[in-house]
Amino acid sequence: MAVTTAVAHPNVALVKYWGKQDKAGNLPATPNLSITLSTLSTQTSVRESAHDQLVLNDHEQQDLKVAAWLRQLRESYDIPPLHIETNNNFPTGAGLASSASGFAALITAINEHCALGHNPALCSDLARRGSASAARSIYGGFVALVPPQWQAQKLAPAEHWPLRVVVAVTSHLPKAVGSTEGMQRSRDTSAYYPAWVSGSGQDFEAAASAIEARNFQRLAEVSELNCLKMHSLMLTSVPTLSYWTPATLACMETVRELRRQGEGVFFSIDAGPQVKAICLPESQLQVAEQLRETPGVVEVISCELGEGARIVPS
Ligand code: PMV
Repeated sequence: MAVTTAVAHPNVALVKYWGKQDKAGNLPATPNLSITLSTLSTQTSVRESAHDQLVLNDHEQQDLKVAAWLRQLRESYDIPPLHIETNNNFPTGAGLASSASGFAALITAINEHCALGHNPALCSDLARRGSASAARSIYGGFVALVPPQWQAQKLAPAEHWPLRVVVAVTSHLPKAVGSTEGMQRSRDTSAYYPAWVSGSGQDFEAAASAIEARNFQRLAEVSELNCLKMHSLMLTSVPTLSYWTPATLACMETVRELRRQGEGVFFSIDAGPQVKAICLPESQLQVAEQLRETPGVVEVISCELGEGARIVPS
């Protein structure tokens, strides 16, 4: 029986997405921008089956998000029942963007298997309907997700600026509040939400031009502050959304100390306790060593910038 396999990588947003528009299509409220990682990956195989079945890391799952996404996809395309087998080589649902690489790999496999014939822009559109950050994992390197189309766009390839990302894993536990629920809560209850929305365009432009000019200091300033703005929104939501642990704070302090010592590094944190340290290649070893020694860090994973989603041999 024909099996089609795709691989995709998680991405780290340097200008974050936190909040949706009030329209259909899972549209972000603000422009956002990311880098796609290497090393961490999701591999997904699809084949026809009597009924839909999802096996994640060898365990059968009832995933409501995937089921709803498939239902929506079938309103427009002829897609048979599928057996989907997906494996992550990193902790799932713990703020390491497993849904981004997951939906990007899944639509890439389905597009090929069911001969939908979509180009990456349209695959990105369909991936976004499952998880907006997944739209960005369709491409490698530096990627933007912006209006009016909200299909991801390649800003620059990985070779443009070979940054490194050192991921400090502080917990393997899945997050307590998922991103969809969290975003809704922030939009409905945080007094800072309007400021977040109105300031995002400026952050996006500043980060995009820092990337174009390969200005690390500028990118570090904008991106770290944008991450802290998102976490301020989270913290001031009611009830509060607090994804940080003491180990997260310790890693942030390690990154600040490394910067005081002259290393080119800044941090980014998503909806989970892990810390991603984005750094210049010459700082990577020192950043990895210091994060490994930071109390509460259970694992350190070093990544380069990675490729977009693609079909691989089954
Ligand atoms: O695409 P989602 O629903 O997994 O949300 C992503 C939210 C953040 O990771 C916190 C920010 C981002 O832009 O990736």
